[in-house]
Amino acid sequence: MGPGASLKCASSGKNAFATYGADAFVAVNKAIFAEVTAELTANGQTNLGDSFSRVTDFATFEGRLAAFLVFAYGGPTSITYTDGKTYEGVQDMRAAHAGMNITSAQYDYFVANIIVPALTKSGVPMGDVSSCFAPLVVDASVKASMVGQ
Ligand code: HEM
Repeated sequence: MGPGASLKCASSGKNAFATYGADAFVAVNKAIFAEVTAELTANGQTNLGDSFSRVTDFATFEGRLAAFLVFAYGGPTSITYTDGKTYEGVQDMRAAHAGMNITSAQYDYFVANIIVPALTKSGVPMGDVSSCFAPLVVDASVKASMVGQ
């Protein structure tokens, strides 16, 4: 079971994947990439740093993020994404962010200004953001696995 599988949504009493399902996770994942693009267009590297400018394969990144989120929030260990490829949800976040030197401020900005809007614009009410999504990404050890690597 993924680390967020035991978080219960206020709206349903079930975890996020059981509440929203695979299609919603795909929609949120695509919304995250749209928010990142909008942020980089509006503010350049000011808030998120330079790590996204070094990505060479956004299609794989997108599929891997989707699989990570699905598994982390209570879904299966792997998914077939919209590109028809299969991606594994169990991933090492330390290794994934190695060499990026993501700062605490960049991480917090990403959660508040990319992930939360991607969820709410996809129809997730704030009560569910707070109850069954946010606790995982604000967890100190989860944050520490991505910051400063
Ligand atoms: C809740 C916080 C975060 C989660 C759940 C998350 C999750 C992930 C996942 C699953 C991957 C794919 C792993 C791979 O491609 O091997 C990834 C890669 C990446 N992450 Fe994060 N991440 C988070 C925060 C951040 C932040 C704050 C930044 C930058 C400011 C960032 C920048 C990147 C970049 C640039 C890659 C792409 C690596 C590549 O494909 O070359 N991430 N992240």
